[in-house]
Amino acid sequence: DKIVVVMGGTSTEAEISRQTGQAILKALQSKGYHAEGMELKPETFAEDIRKSGCAIVFNALHGKYGEDGLLQGTLDMMGIPYTGSGVLAAAVTMDKAASKRVFVAEGIPTPRSHTYYRYEMKRSLAEEIQQEFSLPVVVKAASQGSSIGVYIVETPDDLSHALHEAFEYNNEVLVEEFIKGKELTVAVWGNEEKKEAFPIIEITTASGRYDYESKYTKGASTHIIPARVSEEKAGEIRQLAVRTFTACGCRGVARVDMMLSEDGVPYVIEVNSVPGMTELSLVPDAGRAMGIEFPELCERILEMAGF
Ligand code: DAL
Ligand code: MG
Repeated sequence: DKIVVVMGGTSTEAEISRQTGQAILKALQSKGYHAEGMELKPETFAEDIRKSGCAIVFNALHGKYGEDGLLQGTLDMMGIPYTGSGVLAAAVTMDKAASKRVFVAEGIPTPRSHTYYRYEMKRSLAEEIQQEFSLPVVVKAASQGSSIGVYIVETPDDLSHALHEAFEYNNEVLVEEFIKGKELTVAVWGNEEKKEAFPIIEITTASGRYDYESKYTKGASTHIIPARVSEEKAGEIRQLAVRTFTACGCRGVARVDMMLSEDGVPYVIEVNSVPGMTELSLVPDAGRAMGIEFPELCERILEMAGF
């Protein structure tokens, strides 16, 4: 039974997705699976999948088309199974504004935020934001990944600039209060019946910012596993991660990013339904910390998709 690992595409994270996809492909082949890679070409995707004759798609796409429900919807219509979250969970988690609404409705602690639309963009928007929030704030294009379109803003001048940049990526931009503290992330895997949190990862960076460069440059960030928090706090954080995964309706493996404030409150920042699986990525490291090597991790993800 053939597995097709779909990667690449046209999103801002296409290159990262190719690294994720190649790592998964290699892992599956090392386990003896008949797996091949496929570059996503949106306009011929359905045809390409049909021709491949695959039994299942391993989704290694980040961002637009692959992490936002479109691939999922296409494959649902074709009756072909795939790894990871379905249409709704992918669509909700890819949109930072939509996920906020879910977090708030479910009582999941998350930094206070406001969503602005491109049509509201005017000279005085930066002033309005400063009345609503005190600096620093985080400005985020609503549906990007890998910290693309994310700006930590400390001065009024930078605010206008960040808004302009963020609106280059999406019509919706989130402005969020800045939480000072530890950067944490928790992978969760499972399905409707059973879910499990991986060990918590604490991230430190040489530059002080976990941005695109720190994420994908060797030596620029450090993963501390398990995170340096008390056992009691760790339990609370992992439970929160599972609750968030459930609220968003995720399946397979997803990664819940958080900030732990200096007074010990964990805030959920976002959920990644197709977390990075590159050599420098977080989830493979968390897997190894619980004794699961990467090929086995990929195998278990396939099993969760019913393969
Ligand atoms: N969006 C990147 C790939 C991640 O969450 O790991
Ligand atoms: Mg993300």
